[in-house]
Amino acid sequence: MAYKKEDLIKKAHSMKSYAYAPYSHFAVGAVLQCQDGNIYTGCNIENASYGLTRCAEQVAVLKAISEGNKEFMAIAVCSSDKAFPYPCGSCLQILAEFAPDLTIYLSNGWGAEKEFLLSELLPYAFTLKEKEGK
Ligand code: THU
Repeated sequence: MAYKKEDLIKKAHSMKSYAYAPYSHFAVGAVLQCQDGNIYTGCNIENASYGLTRCAEQVAVLKAISEGNKEFMAIAVCSSDKAFPYPCGSCLQILAEFAPDLTIYLSNGWGAEKEFLLSELLPYAFTLKEKEGK
């Protein structure tokens, strides 16, 4: 099945039901779409040791990589709040490792949407590729 932008956003919203967010009460759902059409889902997973919290985007990336897929095309990230779930700096850097040209769809809980390129949100991603002459 070919997932379109609205399919990805809808599924990312549904992923919020799996969020484990007893501390922030800010549920986030994510769906990562790969070049071959496969999708990988994620939700945020918090921890009593706050720094161990994993963002929804990271969960989706870990699932894709660990299943052998690292050709990312787009990611949809959804929240329930008025606030948009802008990916944090760590997530942007993790996404940039695999897909510097990634498309990012954001949707808040009020039905509003935004669309960015990863390069707009993280214009100077750290990379070792130039150092390695790639
Ligand atoms: N969070 C995400 O999962 N993704 C984002 O894009 C922003 C923040 C989570 C982490 C934490 O569980 C909660 O939102 C509040 O920061």
